[in-house]
Amino acid sequence: MKNLSLPRPSFLTYCLTALLAVTFGLLTVNQLFPDLFVVRVSAAAAPNAPLTASLSDSQMALAPAGSTVTYTHFITNDGVLPEIFTVDAVSRQGWNVSVSPVSLTLTSGASASLVLSVTIPVTAAPGVQGLTTLTANNTGLPAITLKVRDTTLVQSTASLPIPPAQYGQLVGGERTYSLTALISTTEFLPGLQTRTYGYSANYLGPTLVLTQGEVISISVTNQLTEVTTTHWHGVDMPGAADGGPHQPFDPGQTWQPTFPVINEASTVWYHPHPHAHEASTAATGQQAYMGLAGMIVVRDSASNALGLPQTYGVDEFPIVVQDRNFNADGSLREYPVLQNRQFRKGDYFLVNGALAPNLNVPAQMVRLHVLNGANSRYFNFGFADNRSFALIASDNALLNAPLTRTRVLLSPGERAEIVVDLSGQQGQTLALAAFNAEPGSALVPDAFADDYDRANYLLLTLDVTAPTPNPVTTLPATLNDIVPLSIGTTTITRTVTLNTNLALNGVRFDMHTINLTSTVGVAEVWVFTNASPEPHPMHLHGTPFQILARNGTPPAPDEQGWKDTVNVNVGEQVTLIKAPASYANLMAPFMYHCHLLEHEDKGMMGQFVVQAGQWFLPLVGR
Ligand code: C2O
Ligand code: CU
Ligand code: CU
Repeated sequence: MKNLSLPRPSFLTYCLTALLAVTFGLLTVNQLFPDLFVVRVSAAAAPNAPLTASLSDSQMALAPAGSTVTYTHFITNDGVLPEIFTVDAVSRQGWNVSVSPVSLTLTSGASASLVLSVTIPVTAAPGVQGLTTLTANNTGLPAITLKVRDTTLVQSTASLPIPPAQYGQLVGGERTYSLTALISTTEFLPGLQTRTYGYSANYLGPTLVLTQGEVISISVTNQLTEVTTTHWHGVDMPGAADGGPHQPFDPGQTWQPTFPVINEASTVWYHPHPHAHEASTAATGQQAYMGLAGMIVVRDSASNALGLPQTYGVDEFPIVVQDRNFNADGSLREYPVLQNRQFRKGDYFLVNGALAPNLNVPAQMVRLHVLNGANSRYFNFGFADNRSFALIASDNALLNAPLTRTRVLLSPGERAEIVVDLSGQQGQTLALAAFNAEPGSALVPDAFADDYDRANYLLLTLDVTAPTPNPVTTLPATLNDIVPLSIGTTTITRTVTLNTNLALNGVRFDMHTINLTSTVGVAEVWVFTNASPEPHPMHLHGTPFQILARNGTPPAPDEQGWKDTVNVNVGEQVTLIKAPASYANLMAPFMYHCHLLEHEDKGMMGQFVVQAGQWFLPLVGR
């Protein structure tokens, strides 16, 4: 349990302040006797411990429209003097809410319960994430304000959509996959058709299952009315196949990159990556927001031998989490009301494109490939009952060993694979939730936070059904043998400062400027320093990296595997080592950028090309 606590000056301090204020008026006192005022306040404050009060955690519930849900919070006077609190509850959605009592006196150390009741209107759409802010203020000066947010998810009967797996077809030694970016409609809210984009689907796209060592070819046809690109996020492939801003294809065209699968078993993904410039207005954030994204699951022989759950759609599921806004007519609203146009951050939460869906899972070990597919929202994932799970993979590979966790925090673009053991739990229901209240301002600083960066809320319910005939019931102790990359004599160091104006090292992305040149076979140390007031998930194309340090300290085991996206917090310095580039091509750059798509589109991005290794140079020269 976490409490919200605010330190306060002593009772004596504000009696004195009040007395002086009554006598002279605060400004007058300050102006007439500044020294006297300051000295007396600090002298009075010093001998006393700060007074505090606290209000217990944010809560969440799932209930049908028309029902009333109650939440009980505990308010405690952690100080030494009696306190009088007035309590208020406000629904973000304008629902009927009440709290009892609305006023109470707490003696030192005393606790009382506050019962909040929230009535969901009968007309509320399934999947609405109702949010109530409970505020307790004490009387007197200075004020303590305690605030918690409770969420009420309106129950839905929707099943979790499971994107079809595409295993590709062997044609002349190449495994071929095909996708069509198209315009469609999706019914997210009952009776309302929303215009969406999808890859061979009305929203999102199939899960591509790739096998390490195969040569693959993916054809993507553009049936949109604007130019697009298709980027394989986290895939190690030649620059010309990368699908960044330099590989656009027009409506009616098909783009077909071919490359061998070098990646080891991992969860990667695909999404558009156009950059608006003089030739086109197409942008990544808008196309992704409309629904263009899909998961890629890479298999390899080492991981196949581990006996992990990997029967897709049976004991292994893709979990793509996104937030969206809707207008009253059901159309996607790009930016929230009453918020500046900084981020496409919404108050509706989609899992695989459905609001508040339910998934039937067998009573055995179940593997979830979790992707934060939001444009700009962070999610601190966990199960509502705080059960633990095994964290088995970071962005680009299985970890060396499973880690027992109750939370996994993913910034936009990051992935995690988790295994939850449901053995013997047939008949139970559990829920996947975002525990965004827990990190508080460490998740996103106040200036950039909305209610859903400060609340806990349910995303997906899982009904445990009968186990399959040959269930996976144990995990191997060892999953991988990742060898730490070490800094060698040829290692190059890149220092990148993340600037307040959404630039990198002071410059914004320009299609025509190559910012860096890498060399095939040469590892690089990248040092990101966040000098801006907000966190940025930094992503590097091409080969993956290992995190060496956060502010000089080695990362937690959770971050010791292969990654391609790393969140860099405010004031933080993250040092990583990027695996040597695999392919040279001076004409086909790779991107590095913030994965908050609105930041990327604003130019918080750079590009590098890869030159051939020096041992090839004499050959090239001839
Ligand atoms: Cu997921 Cu450069 O992108
Ligand atoms: Cu990428
Ligand atoms: Cu950013």
